[in-house]
Amino acid sequence: MTSAPTLSFLLFFFFFFSSCSPASAGLCNKYDKKALLKIKSAFNNAYHFASWTNDSACCDWYNIDCDARGRVIGLSLFQDDFPGTIPDAVGDLPFLQSLTFHHLPNLVGTIPPAIARLANLRFLDISWTSVSGPVPAFLARLRALDYLNLSFNNLSGTIPAALGDAPSLTSIDISRNKLTGPLPPALFRNASEAYLRLSHNGLSGEVPPSYGSVRFIQVDLSRNQFEGDATFLFGRGKPAQQIDLSRNKFEFDLTRVEFPEADLILVDLNHNKIYGNIPQQISEVGNLQFFNVSYNRLCGKIPAGGRLNRFDEYCFLHNKCLCGAPLPAC
Ligand SMILES: *[C@@H]1O[C@H](CO)[C@@H](O)[C@H](O)[C@H]1NC(C)=O
Ligand SMILES: *[C@@H]1O[C@H](CO)[C@@H](O)[C@H](O)[C@H]1NC(C)=O
Ligand SMILES: *[C@@H]1O[C@H](CO)[C@@H](O)[C@H](O)[C@H]1NC(C)=O
Ligand SMILES: *[C@@H]1O[C@H](CO)[C@@H](O)[C@H](O)[C@H]1NC(C)=O
Ligand SMILES: *[C@@H]1O[C@H](CO)[C@@H](O)[C@H](O)[C@H]1NC(C)=O
Repeated sequence: MTSAPTLSFLLFFFFFFSSCSPASAGLCNKYDKKALLKIKSAFNNAYHFASWTNDSACCDWYNIDCDARGRVIGLSLFQDDFPGTIPDAVGDLPFLQSLTFHHLPNLVGTIPPAIARLANLRFLDISWTSVSGPVPAFLARLRALDYLNLSFNNLSGTIPAALGDAPSLTSIDISRNKLTGPLPPALFRNASEAYLRLSHNGLSGEVPPSYGSVRFIQVDLSRNQFEGDATFLFGRGKPAQQIDLSRNKFEFDLTRVEFPEADLILVDLNHNKIYGNIPQQISEVGNLQFFNVSYNRLCGKIPAGGRLNRFDEYCFLHNKCLCGAPLPAC
């Protein structure tokens, strides 16, 4: 499922562009400038960096944001085909809060340890690139990191358990990679809200029951090999808006589930081994806009009332013995 950017993402950009005021025009810290020129030369002075010239102030260069004192706080490279790897020199921008490499198909290599030096980094987006290798455990040393987006790359290996120690992390998106292995037992321990998107990987095993106490706004585990119980991701009173467990091997009794009634918008459970029946309590979910339980082992009458009658038969097809509108009468 694609969806709107997360709240933290939006807040970040608000913060970002409001601090990118003319106050920094004409400014440039000389150490930051030196690091940026190293980055330019690591990319063989590609045309993308044409505005990065030694005789101009680095806060005026394209793709750079500075604070009022002329320190570089944002570097965002996107939408180009220059080749290269993520340069170690990014680690020499100590005030950096936001780092983006997006839609760079010829960006290869691994995520360099130099990134762990960025003590102020809050936002890291490396997406739609050919970056490969592991999701590095050293990312957990970034104490300010709130938003981590490594989606649409060629990353492999397991999700490092150390990520559970990153104290500020609330949003993780590593969808569309080649991750394998289990979920780390503890993630988002102290987050007041959490976003987890891991769709289209080869992850497996059971979801740790400790995830039952995480305040997920979004959890997307679709198109992996997860199995076992996931009922604890649901629950009355939770803030969840989207729960997508589709195309896995989850096997649990849906009868036992109580749906978060306040903010829930999307529930996608299609292609699993879920049994039992659809609880009547689903009719209390006032905002439900997407509900798909097709290709499971459900049985019994589809609850009437609430919003379930908005969904067509394709949302209920291929179960053991579900019946009632929009399927044939019981
Ligand atoms: C991560 O990046 C991808 C690709 O740009 C985007 O579609 C997705 O919404 C982002 N995830 C989050 C949680 O913001
Ligand atoms: C860049 O400019 C500085 C002075 O502003 C000068 O010392 C340095 O040699 C220049 N570097 C290059 C590569 O031209
Ligand atoms: C992704 O990684 C695999 C090895 O894991 C490699 O064979 C493949 O060429 C890589 N693809 C891209 C687009 O980098
Ligand atoms: C979570 O909070 C507890 C108590 O406030 C604290 O002891 C612990 O170190 C925190 N854990 C993380 C990962 O920040
Ligand atoms: C529900 O899932 C089934 C199986 O993947 C799919 O054919 C159907 O189009 C889905 N319905 C909606 C509304 O997405």
